[in-house]
Amino acid sequence: MSSLDSIVGAVQTTANYVSENLASHAGAEGGTNPSGEEQIDADVWADKLFFDKLSDLDAVGEYVTEERETAVDCGDGYTIAIDPLDGSSNLRSNNPVGTIVGIYDAPLPASGRELVGAIMVLYGPYTTMTVAREDRDSVLRFLLRDGFSEGWGTVELPDDQVVLGLAGKRGQRSEALESLANELERELKPRYGGATIADLSQVMEYGGLFGYPATDGYPDGKLRVHFESAPLAYIIEAAGGGSTDGTQSLLDVEPDGYHARTQTFLGNEEIIDRIEASLGN
Ligand code: F6P
Ligand code: MN
Repeated sequence: MSSLDSIVGAVQTTANYVSENLASHAGAEGGTNPSGEEQIDADVWADKLFFDKLSDLDAVGEYVTEERETAVDCGDGYTIAIDPLDGSSNLRSNNPVGTIVGIYDAPLPASGRELVGAIMVLYGPYTTMTVAREDRDSVLRFLLRDGFSEGWGTVELPDDQVVLGLAGKRGQRSEALESLANELERELKPRYGGATIADLSQVMEYGGLFGYPATDGYPDGKLRVHFESAPLAYIIEAAGGGSTDGTQSLLDVEPDGYHARTQTFLGNEEIIDRIEASLGN
């Protein structure tokens, strides 16, 4: 088994277990994560499950998570950067959540150009795992159920552009973005759910845009480069889409710390070009 196979296998097994047991962890409160956000019990629970499985692998040398301040050294091998439960504030209302895994061939901080694979799991009405790897030509999707994974074909962004999931309140985003958002809201169907993985999944299925821009509350954007923006950019670019922080691919963003944030836009290349034309200077 290759190193990447062993990592994908460990994520698959753990995600199956998470999917079956999420309800038991939906309510209870937890502490605060290193980005200053409220954790719920489920964030810490999922982080421990993924850590126990992944840190045990020969293929994994370092484990860095949204839920811990610093990296955990596990020997030689790839660096795992993980958001164990993305969008966990959605749990209480029983809306979808996800897991994001970046596999870097370098210690962090590092740009997305060091990624050799990325995985996103969506815990929706059913659980799917989407995998992009440097040793595969296409992005593969799997259905996770009863401890197994069933191949569900390849993922390619459609040419159509249908949905728009844009975070942030009106009046709290830059003027340039507000005016582009006005245009896009006339062309696309606004659908924002508040979990990056779910909001990106609808874009991968129907085409369009997901974005978390800079806002008054989050001047650098809310999403974290290592755990969210770069791995998801790796997947969407491999599926034929594009990504930007406003001026460059999210894979080129150089984070200055484990928990560095960035403005994040993921979707059809044509819309990404329009964002760069509006925001880049
Ligand atoms: O991980 C951060 C996150 O939960 C994302 O999954 C999601 O896109 C975002 O926060 C939602 O933030 P807000 O509640 O500000 O829309
Ligand atoms: Mn997240």
